[in-house]
Amino acid sequence: MKKIAVCGASGLVGSRLVRQLHQRSFPLVLVGRKAQPLQEKFPFAIAHYSWSEFAATPADDLGTIINLAGAGVTDKAWSEAYKQIMIDSRLNATQTCVELCQKNPSIRLINASAISAYGFYDDDHEVFAEADTERRTGTCFLQELIDRWEQATVPAVKAGSSVALLRIGTVFDRQGGALSTIEIPFRYFLGGRFGTGKQIMSWVSLEDLVAAIEFIFDRPDLNGPINLVSPGACSNRMVARSLGKAMGRPSLIPIPAFLIRAMMGQMGQELVLWGQRASPSKLLAAGFVFQDQDIDAYFQKTFRR
Ligand SMILES: NC(=O)c1ccc[n+]([C@@H]2O[C@H](COP(=O)([O-])OP(=O)(O)OC[C@H]3O[C@@H](n4cnc5c(N)ncnc54)[C@H](OP(=O)(O)O)[C@@H]3O)[C@@H](O)[C@H]2O)c1
Repeated sequence: MKKIAVCGASGLVGSRLVRQLHQRSFPLVLVGRKAQPLQEKFPFAIAHYSWSEFAATPADDLGTIINLAGAGVTDKAWSEAYKQIMIDSRLNATQTCVELCQKNPSIRLINASAISAYGFYDDDHEVFAEADTERRTGTCFLQELIDRWEQATVPAVKAGSSVALLRIGTVFDRQGGALSTIEIPFRYFLGGRFGTGKQIMSWVSLEDLVAAIEFIFDRPDLNGPINLVSPGACSNRMVARSLGKAMGRPSLIPIPAFLIRAMMGQMGQELVLWGQRASPSKLLAAGFVFQDQDIDAYFQKTFRR
């Protein structure tokens, strides 16, 4: 059986995905900036590579590359230097994967991306399916980042590889990512909507996201951009209300837009005060079933555990 490489395996999504793929007994090659921590975290994988080791690996042994690597968009304040790190980390990682595809075009590349591809809106603007990228308006940092990230995969397509672009929404899980931050003010009875609360959050539970990546992995006919978001996208106001209800806390204290901009700068504007409504059209048409579609039910389940 050809090997499956998972790049950025140590992250929120990668960690869960690697364990799922391991349960199915696939031969896994894990890639990160340092091999040692991967070896310690996932001793069961058949190989653990730094990026330079991965670049030198024989391409003929690989069947699929799942690339999730990139400096976290909420890990640090968006200084010009950190913005460059967010860009370079994604472009360099993708380029390494693409070069392996060019050496062996039978490799399938499943590359992370985000629904930022559809632009950013401060209210319930319109629904974006995968074919609607051209209808987006405006421009901002994250949208440009995603454009460059997706464009970086084009040479692999030209070489003849099948490339799937995972346009991921806001991933909800209590172990990390957006939800672990959003729930903090609620714990202290200080929760509420962000700004007007009209901006749309296209969320996806980590369980559904990983199941969807496995589904795409199992279906080589699925390629190009694929939205990985729950069909139950909803306003920030609704997220706050549902979260408060599930945590047994009020959701009455809105955090004003000016405060979010003052505290978080451009990151706050793009990630907190703006959003977009994406629909998982391709996955639904292909028969994928989301377990978590309703925000109330999802939070009730998550906070009861
Ligand atoms: N989580 C979300 O809500 C969300 C939403 C939309 C899109 N996405 C995208 O989906 C992918 C996976 O998300 P995630 O939440 O699992 O991300 P994550 O937890 O931040 O993990 C990403 C991985 O990227 C690697 N990495 C970090 N900084 C790097 C750098 N400077 N250079 C190269 N690699 C670096 C790390 O692996 P090593 O330390 O082993 O190198 C890390 O484990 C990311 O690319 C993210 O942009 C995520």
